[in-house]
Amino acid sequence: MAVERGKVACIGSGLIGQGWAALFALKGYEVVMQDLSDEVLERAAARVRSHIRFLADTGLGDDLNSALGRIETTTDLVEAVEDVVLAVESVYESYEVKKPVFAEMDQAAPEDAILASSTSGLLMTEIQKAVGLHPERCIVAHPWNPAHLVPLVELAPGELTSRRTVERTYAIMEDIGKVPVVLKKEAPGFIANRLSVALWREALDLVDKGVASVEDVDKAVRAGPGIRWAIMGPYLTYHLGGGTGGIEYLMRHIGASKASWLETMAKWTDTPESAIEKAIDGVNEMVGGRPLEELEAWRDERLAKLLGLLWKNK
Ligand SMILES: NC(=O)c1ccc[n+]([C@@H]2O[C@H](COP(=O)([O-])OP(=O)(O)OC[C@H]3O[C@@H](n4cnc5c(N)ncnc54)[C@H](O)[C@@H]3O)[C@@H](O)[C@H]2O)c1
Repeated sequence: MAVERGKVACIGSGLIGQGWAALFALKGYEVVMQDLSDEVLERAAARVRSHIRFLADTGLGDDLNSALGRIETTTDLVEAVEDVVLAVESVYESYEVKKPVFAEMDQAAPEDAILASSTSGLLMTEIQKAVGLHPERCIVAHPWNPAHLVPLVELAPGELTSRRTVERTYAIMEDIGKVPVVLKKEAPGFIANRLSVALWREALDLVDKGVASVEDVDKAVRAGPGIRWAIMGPYLTYHLGGGTGGIEYLMRHIGASKASWLETMAKWTDTPESAIEKAIDGVNEMVGGRPLEELEAWRDERLAKLLGLLWKNK
């Protein structure tokens, strides 16, 4: 599908809005960032410029100077969306905050503009209830942090979302270098956050039960499953884990031994206070006072190298 590289509004200029803004500007879109105050927008614009420079320095984008000139800011939501092809909402994670933003974007944006939400797990079917004019152009486009570097975007249409909206959003996401997946059915948390939270609960529980330290849980994921998952997902990984019998052998013969592991795994939905305290203490000990900016820079440098290796030519 041909992509119209028009103007994109990034509504909410926090961590995720900044990542979106940097990526769209670098890929040739005019970007307007909107937030509640000029102070917030000033800080956000500085971060966006730094992301753009980083992407250009690491060879993940060129045209640095024109990208920097494509960023505008405003506190006025109506002004932000009035002439866009796409508005991406990245405000606080609650229906109470997102619904009025969608209702207002729907009133002010051109009829054909796509209205996307970065929500980590809320459902578009619910958000759409607040959208009076054109709910069919609303869709979830859930990125992963840092949004300017991690390729995945999960497209989760609501009950009223049109097929055309899904296709147009998919095309724009591919145009900016994202790797889109489309949910066939809505599920809170979509695909990747559901998988992620299953692992996270077990990670918290292993530390809470005294099986391992925070540092060793992180090391085990990084040095084991994590490094494989960067190349192939769980299905293909297990296909190779079945030896010459592949996935069928693994499912029918080896799989059964996992029942006793599953029986002893965490089942809670509210994180126990003891697990919260141990997680905070363990992370603080592991980090040893290193500032967040230093950790982010360390992560982003490695992410950029991995991206070049694994996703440059998809
Ligand atoms: N942080 C993550 O790792 C992550 C990853 C993927 C998706 N998300 C989702 O993206 C969204 C934003 O998350 P974040 O981490 O960037 O949050 P954040 O707190 O860093 O930023 C939210 C921004 O929205 C602004 N805001 C709040 N209400 C607003 C309104 N009515 N109009 C305009 N701006 C408003 C705030 O001032 C703030 O700058 C959430 O829905 C979150 O679930 C977060």
